This record gives sequence, C-alpha cells and structure tokens, in this order.
Amino acid sequence: MIRDTFDRVHNYLRISLTDRCNMRCFYCMPNEHYDFSPFSKLMQGDEIEKLAKIFVTLGVNKIRLTGGEPLIRKDAADIILRLSKLPVKLTLTTNGSRVYEYIEVFKQAHINSLNISLDTLQADKFNHITRRNDFALVRENIQLLLKENFHVKVNVVVMKEFNDDEINDFIEWTRDTPIHVRFIEFMPFNGNLWTSNKVITWKQMMERIEQKYKVHRLQDEKHDTAKKYNIEGHAGTFAFITTMSTPFCGDCNRMRLTADGKMKNCLFSNSETDLLTALRNGEDIVPLIYKSVYHKAEKLGGQFEPNFENLNPEDIANRSMITIGG
Ligand code: 5AD
Ligand code: SF4
Repeated sequence: MIRDTFDRVHNYLRISLTDRCNMRCFYCMPNEHYDFSPFSKLMQGDEIEKLAKIFVTLGVNKIRLTGGEPLIRKDAADIILRLSKLPVKLTLTTNGSRVYEYIEVFKQAHINSLNISLDTLQADKFNHITRRNDFALVRENIQLLLKENFHVKVNVVVMKEFNDDEINDFIEWTRDTPIHVRFIEFMPFNGNLWTSNKVITWKQMMERIEQKYKVHRLQDEKHDTAKKYNIEGHAGTFAFITTMSTPFCGDCNRMRLTADGKMKNCLFSNSETDLLTALRNGEDIVPLIYKSVYHKAEKLGGQFEPNFENLNPEDIANRSMITIGG
C-alpha cells in the first residue's frame, strides 16, 4: 500500500495520455505559444502498461485516463484495452469530441462511466471557450453515451460573468436527462488568466440553485471529490467540486502521471518524479513512487491556503492544466 505521512492510502492513479488537445479551452491551455511534447518523450503504450502494473501491485485499484484529450492519441484504443486487463476500475475524462469512435472500445474495456467537459449549453459561448466549433458534436456524443447506458458526468468549470448565468440551465438539463452535472470552482494554473474574482464558490452557486429549486443532499462515496445533490423528480443529479473554497485534501487518495511520465503527488505539487526515464534506464521505480508520496503536502501542494481571495496566481509554481492532465 502507498501511504503518505498523513496516513492517507493512495489507491487512485490518473494517467495523462497526451498533452495535446483538439480544443483550446483558455482556462486549460496557456495563452502564450506552447510546444507540445514530441511523441518519443511520451510514455508509449507498453510503458504505460508497465507503470500501471507496478502501481497496481502497490494497491492502486482505480485508474482514470486524462489528457490533453486522451482520445486523440492514435493508440488510445490499444492503451485502453491493455489497462482494462488490470484489476482496476478504469475511467476516462474527455472533451467528448471523439467519443463516437470509441463506444465499442469502452464496452470491451468495461468502462461504464465517463466524464465529459462541457462548460456551456450555448454554441457561440462554446466556440469562444474552446476556440473550436464542436458544440453539436459534443452534445450528440453525450446523447449517444446515454443511449448506450453509460453513466455520464459533465464537468462544468464555472467562471464569474462568463458562464455563471447558465448554472440553472444545467440544472434544468438534469430534469429529464439522467446526466450528472459537476460544477467545478475555477482553479489557477500556469497561463490560464485566473484571478480570484473570477471564482464562484460552491455556496454562491448553491444560492442561485436554491432560489429556483428544492435541493436534496445525496450520500457521498468514500474519497469523492464532489458534494452531490439532486432535485426531486429530476432524472439526473448535480455536484460541486470545491477545490478553491473548501478543499477536500484530507481524504486524498490520488496520484498523477503526466503524459511524459512524471509522477505528481498532487494536482498542485511543484515537484515531479521522473518515472519514465527511470523505467527506460531499467531502474526500480517502486522506491521512487514511495518517495514521491512521502513528500506529499497536507493540502493544495503546500502552495496556497483555501482563502483564495488573496492568492496571487504568479506565486504558484505548476504546469498548465493541459500538461498535468485534469
Ligand atoms: N479550473 C477548474 N477545472 C479545470 N479543468 C481544466 N482546467 C481547469 C481549471 N482551471 C477541468 C476541465 C476538465 C477537467 C479535466 O479539468 O473541466 O473537465
Ligand atoms: Fe482540451 Fe479539455 Fe483542456 Fe479544453 S479543458 S483544452 S478540452 S484538455
């Protein structure tokens, strides 16, 4: 078992398959020119499998594939099928643009739950956020997944005066659609134009929802990062991911591997452990994993406090979201 100095057992690994994406969401991609990693620097399919197997021997029982956009990687299907043979719950976070090509792969891999990023229900705003025109495609893919009985979570990054006016439109979507909306507090990463006054806290979101609906709290599952709710009679549910105002670090069980094979012990950690180079050099990576988790900070990568109002994003040393993997 991988245990940190705060007695937290780490059994959940998030693996980024690529730092590339076919969309350009401004809150995720740095604004300035960004050089993607060359393919040879990325973990190859067999390397991902080898690393994942080592984590599994250390107790990992859940793996989420992220990106960039994981499904644009040419060997994504091969990687998914390789990992599906491990004794883990396998899931995926995607922007939803390529899902239709993968329905059979997901089924074969026993993936039954997916997270899709969709921050707006308005086509023109979608184009503005993502700098691409794939709104209809993403909506169709969500419908396709629902038709095929997948559990679909929709990730909505809520930003003040940008999409906060749509919170209740998303709630309305849950009325007849068995969709699970997750409102995410806007987080600071390198080059993503974050300022504290663009953050809407979950309490502020909830106030708007409660003005219109009668809300019920649902039971959390262990290690859940989301506070879950539903509204009587609605087919879907909604939740808040409260990283900024109410971090859930106390119960953290997560580790990350970037697409270039660096282990991060926290989304906000400023240090990384190069597992891929070690693996390529034939070194034993188990001690490296233990060491990385041993140095895990108690909360938020040790970089800031939950009183984000006074936070200067320049003071946080980190990668951009697209190079970490959400
Ligand atoms: N703040 C909050 N959530 C973010 N994501 C990406 N960047 C940010 C940010 N700055 C979310 C996206 C995606 C997931 C991988 O991470 O919504 O669904
Ligand atoms: Fe791509 Fe997702 Fe980042 Fe948008 S948030 S640029 S869809 S990886």
